[in-house]
Amino acid sequence: RIKRIGVPDIRARKGGEPLVCLTAYDFPMARLLDPHCDVLLVGDSLGMVVHGLDTTIGVTLDMMILHGKAVMRAAKQALVVIDLPFGTYEASPEQAFASASRALAETGAQAVKIESGVYAGDTIRFLTERGIPVMGHIGLKPQAALNEGGFKARGRSQAEWDRVIAEAKAADEAGAFAIVIEGVDEELAREITAQVSVPTIGIGASPACDGQILVTQDLLGLFDWAPKFVKRYASLGETVSDAVGRWAADVRSREFPAAEQTYRIRPNDR
Ligand code: KIV
Ligand code: NA
Repeated sequence: RIKRIGVPDIRARKGGEPLVCLTAYDFPMARLLDPHCDVLLVGDSLGMVVHGLDTTIGVTLDMMILHGKAVMRAAKQALVVIDLPFGTYEASPEQAFASASRALAETGAQAVKIESGVYAGDTIRFLTERGIPVMGHIGLKPQAALNEGGFKARGRSQAEWDRVIAEAKAADEAGAFAIVIEGVDEELAREITAQVSVPTIGIGASPACDGQILVTQDLLGLFDWAPKFVKRYASLGETVSDAVGRWAADVRSREFPAAEQTYRIRPNDR
């Protein structure tokens, strides 16, 4: 029996061996990723990656819970974190607690992640004190894109730079057990990582972080496009397209199914 990584194990990795984290949305992929990863994040990026939405704004808590259950059936080792989607936690600590407790109770996952502006310190503290581990998420916050504009890296002005540092401190002081930093300059990531007491997990945030996370389908090359900060380790899109193209041709030419794929069963009383 494999021992599951816990929140204290993640916290203890500050400044140590880099944390290996990936997104997971479904059972078969989670099973493949689990042995390699410290953290599997059921990210609200699933709205775009799995459901074809333009942004993460339309993702619901029910969607997160459905995918979270599938991931939990496969994950034996990694800590599983569920993203709270837009509109389910920002209004008040009480709203966040209701959403987070549902996400954990209905899936069995061990933690939630929220996109944590400076205001979110109160919410993070409220949840942590009541037994819900929270991962923060600062810098480029995709759910805030309507207000903050686009998916460009953050830290282009002194005000923005200071704001990202304030977000980091707010999450750290409120008791977040780890903080995702998305889309920031290397120097800013280094400064934050040095200043906070918990591991930072970077996505487009340089090697200065205590760990790294990517959207799994980006690193596997499922799509034509990926952001600058992604390194592709496979070309899954091409692999799938090629395989399905060959199968389709075989069906059309009646080469599939062949004898090996065909049942030849005769009633044994005939
Ligand atoms: O939703 C997501 O996938 C994320 C990460 C990539 C950090 O929040
Ligand atoms: Na997310």
